[in-house]
Amino acid sequence: MTARWTLDAQLFHDNVAHVIQNQPVMAVMKNNAYHYGLDFAVNAFLKQGITTFSTTVLREAVRIRKLAPEAVIFLMNPSTEFHIIREQRIHMTLPSPEFYHQHQSDLAGINVHLEYENFLHRSGFRTFDDMIPVIQTNRELPKSEQMSIVGIWTHFGYADEFDGDEYSDEKQAWLTGLEKIKTYHDFEFIHAQNSASFVRDGLFTGHSHARLGIILYGSRPYSSLPESLTRQSLTISANVIQVRQLEKGQSAGYSFAFTAEHSTRLAVVDLGYGDGILRTRSKHECLINGRRYPIKALMMSHMFVEVDSNVAAGDEVILYSNDIRIDEYTFKGVGANSEQLSALNHHSLLKEIKL
Ligand SMILES: Cc1ncc(COP(=O)(O)O)c(C=O)c1O
Repeated sequence: MTARWTLDAQLFHDNVAHVIQNQPVMAVMKNNAYHYGLDFAVNAFLKQGITTFSTTVLREAVRIRKLAPEAVIFLMNPSTEFHIIREQRIHMTLPSPEFYHQHQSDLAGINVHLEYENFLHRSGFRTFDDMIPVIQTNRELPKSEQMSIVGIWTHFGYADEFDGDEYSDEKQAWLTGLEKIKTYHDFEFIHAQNSASFVRDGLFTGHSHARLGIILYGSRPYSSLPESLTRQSLTISANVIQVRQLEKGQSAGYSFAFTAEHSTRLAVVDLGYGDGILRTRSKHECLINGRRYPIKALMMSHMFVEVDSNVAAGDEVILYSNDIRIDEYTFKGVGANSEQLSALNHHSLLKEIKL
């Protein structure tokens, strides 16, 4: 018995088709495709008709190129490894006028997408007006020295917020600036929307792609959405290795990790924080034989779960599946969807892809 990371490939494929509904999508592949695995995810997305990808790391962009020789691959972080970018035909963000002026000659022949900073203040041109001199300077260069300004993009920081006006304001700033800059330059690629924005608003008019991550990987971006919006194909499971009886007042685990307030059946499960289960997640339940039972303590390779007489050694214990979803615990404050996914230890969990 060992703790497992199991992916239902058919469910993943079906879900991608269900989510995108034939809309043009740039799939976000960063952090090894949200830890679903770059090779698996690229192939799955290609099968569902997605041919545009983005990531933050050049190494991943190069791997995507191997898997998808004809795809459009967009690097969301700037890189100065210009020869690789050119050779691999990778599109790259242009994050500031400073970057342009510093690397003007190296950028010749490279496809860039101008980045608008917006409310996230992580990267990008501060204003659309700052883009104009760059467009003009580039235009005045001999053709062979020009970069190709093929795209423009932004990223919303508040699309999953409903309390204030921030999303509406950042959206307005983008759409207004975009209309203006389009009078100076034609962009083939216009993309701004993450999962939350896409679900809230549908694809904005005139945009070439929605740039989706988490919804493709089976989690809802915010809590008021129905589970049917996207389905989780990943299961994290382990087994009950023993059931122990504790009497009132007896403790189990390190430093009184759990003390029985009454006579308690305690299942010992072979899964722990060493496998990447967040401590915040262990404040909640797991699923055994179709019923939820409370986790009582989390150790490196084990968990204690309070069970009843329906649970026995050998039973399967599910921490995450489509019946006990990552997004449910996101909304209970355990951590972001991507945080729970990223924490999982791919070196200790047995990885299985069910075809
Ligand atoms: C720049 C950028 N675009 C798109 C996404 C996709 O966001 P989501 O996973 O919420 O769809 C991310 C993810 O963090 C991102 O950093």
